[in-house]
Amino acid sequence: MDLRGKTAVVVGGTSGIGRAAAGLLAEAGARVVTLSRRAVAPDPGCSPESAARITHRRFDITDSAETAEVFADIAGTGGLDLAVHSAGVLAPGSALDTDDELWRRHMATNVDGMFFSARESLRQIRASGRGGKIVLVGSVSGQVGNPGFAAYCAAKGMVVNLTRQLALDYAAEGINVNSVLPGFTDTEMTAIYDSATKAGITAAIPAKAWATPEQIANAVLFLCSPLADYVHGVNLAVDGGYLAGRPA
Ligand SMILES: NC(=O)c1ccc[n+]([C@@H]2O[C@H](COP(=O)([O-])OP(=O)(O)OC[C@H]3O[C@@H](n4cnc5c(N)ncnc54)[C@H](OP(=O)(O)O)[C@@H]3O)[C@@H](O)[C@H]2O)c1
Repeated sequence: MDLRGKTAVVVGGTSGIGRAAAGLLAEAGARVVTLSRRAVAPDPGCSPESAARITHRRFDITDSAETAEVFADIAGTGGLDLAVHSAGVLAPGSALDTDDELWRRHMATNVDGMFFSARESLRQIRASGRGGKIVLVGSVSGQVGNPGFAAYCAAKGMVVNLTRQLALDYAAEGINVNSVLPGFTDTEMTAIYDSATKAGITAAIPAKAWATPEQIANAVLFLCSPLADYVHGVNLAVDGGYLAGRPA
């Protein structure tokens, strides 16, 4: 994979799937900017040579004005080619346990923030005039219910159809919009699960294992690469077969 000369943004690139994606994009030669609320990004976990291509900027995805400013600044005069939108939050709550604050927190980050940042990446990639690739990170919980996670499932359902809609509007301009739908993946986000719950989930996954962030990031890398030049509006499940049906 050769992404030398490309500028990439990874929203939520400081942890889990986004961190792994930032590392892979940098290994492929892209200049990568990670964005998230924390001031200092952790070690990206790639070679020092690749890590030198990664810089970090603090921002909050829920603030549309700040998001627009940050994307415009990153694109600067060199333009933007690739954008990965991996920021998200997860907290439990079936509908009757979901108070207004919990609902709005999910909507602010996983719906509003996802849209604001996708819109600004589109704006900057389009302004660059050379096409580009956008990958939204959705979830299997956007395709099927996840017991006890009402707000999260509702928010992730949005990503699936936003992906299709954005793809339609911008495909003719050489901008590919696709999503990756991760299955259960070992990251900070899923540290909320206790070991018994985790074992029950593992039993429901045909591959009988959780994903590593790198396994999800490999699909992100594919969708950011020239190998995906003719792929538009796809929601690509990377889930150990979770959405395929019930394992025997
Ligand atoms: N892990 C799974 O099993 C799983 C399964 C399906 C889908 N997903 C999806 O995959 C994506 C990545 O999840 P993950 O497991 O890698 O989670 P993670 O390790 O918790 O990483 C989440 C990232 O989002 C950033 N973020 C959160 N709120 C933000 C905000 N308001 N503004 C800017 N950045 C923000 C975090 O950085 P800061 O804290 O510094 O802001 C962090 O970099 C999410 O969209 C998640 O819903 C995960």
